[in-house]
Amino acid sequence: MSIAKIDTIGSIEDLRRVAEKRLPKIFYDYADSGAGTESTYKANEAAFAQIKLRQKVGVNVEARKLSTQILGAESKLPVVLSPVGLLGMQHGDGEILAAQAAEEFGVPFTLSTMSICSIEEVKAKVKNPFWFQLYVMRDREFLARLLDRAEKAGCPTLVLTMDLPVMGVRPKDVNNGLAVPPRFSVCTAANLLRHYGWWRSIVETSRRSFGNLKGEIKNISDPRSLAAWTAEQFDPTVTWETVKQIRDKWKGKLIVKGIMNADDAAQAVNAGADGILVSNHGGRQLDGTIASLAALPEVVKAVGDKTEVYLDGGVRTGVDILRAKALGAKAVFVGRAYTYGLGAYGKDGVTKALSILQTELDNALALCGKTDVNELNTSVFYDGTYPTA
Ligand code: GLV
Repeated sequence: MSIAKIDTIGSIEDLRRVAEKRLPKIFYDYADSGAGTESTYKANEAAFAQIKLRQKVGVNVEARKLSTQILGAESKLPVVLSPVGLLGMQHGDGEILAAQAAEEFGVPFTLSTMSICSIEEVKAKVKNPFWFQLYVMRDREFLARLLDRAEKAGCPTLVLTMDLPVMGVRPKDVNNGLAVPPRFSVCTAANLLRHYGWWRSIVETSRRSFGNLKGEIKNISDPRSLAAWTAEQFDPTVTWETVKQIRDKWKGKLIVKGIMNADDAAQAVNAGADGILVSNHGGRQLDGTIASLAALPEVVKAVGDKTEVYLDGGVRTGVDILRAKALGAKAVFVGRAYTYGLGAYGKDGVTKALSILQTELDNALALCGKTDVNELNTSVFYDGTYPTA
């Protein structure tokens, strides 16, 4: 199978296409899928496209600034790498490679609870602290141990996911029989073996199961299907009280993820969040809810003066980052954009994704007649309109 040379890659969409070729269907689909009819997954991207920008000339735009303070730390771009489950199945040691790429580039990386490489394995391979994402699990002792491990690894920020009290219904994962390690039906095995580049990256590492769970949860050394495991462990009883308890235990910064309206945003601030991530989980949870970008203005209006507000869902270009910044997001989280890069080219692909976003953001800033990404507002929108659902 011939794969395009990385120098010929010009967009995140190019990376997506290469990832689609390079990866077994089961793992490509895991990244590139949404819940149900995928209406929310599609709405996330479509909402960005609704916003037309005002081209502005005759302004000296030579000195441009893209860096942003995120929770008091300088980031080269207003971008954080989102927690993505099973990254190490997109490419062997995927979490380590993505963390290294983020560190070298100068943006934060967030390790998912459901990662293949464990907190300690990533920690051993990077110099700077990375962020950790937590699901609230029924086993609260395990949860407390995870928090201790993240603290011990020096993670400065915890991203607490609130929109997964139950796992979204994702038809493609059902179609593919997604399990970790993959279930070898004859078709799946044939499909895995045909993807030689991917296959080699996986056999070169010994990390092929949920790194943070190994030895911690009974039966996980012989993992059953992801769906069965998650149905058992994700905790549908989570309330704001639980968030307060986690807040009391966690000494670092706390970002609450999965906020889509002013009421929940106020609850999160009340529970002690340092930051709020406006997110519908990339359209992977509640199919039929609005685009996350459409929820951003309401949340910024409600709590933007009390806390930092971030956005994820549908960010595929630097122009999208400019749009989100203009609507008041302090930064965006990107998931699929770098996951495609990882699946396509490993660590170099993650770096490529970040540099594509950087170039596009820088270019759009200049062509809107602006010089500082932190001073954007809706005056860069052609007609000042906000995105609709
Ligand atoms: C897990 O968070 C997933 O969306 O698969």
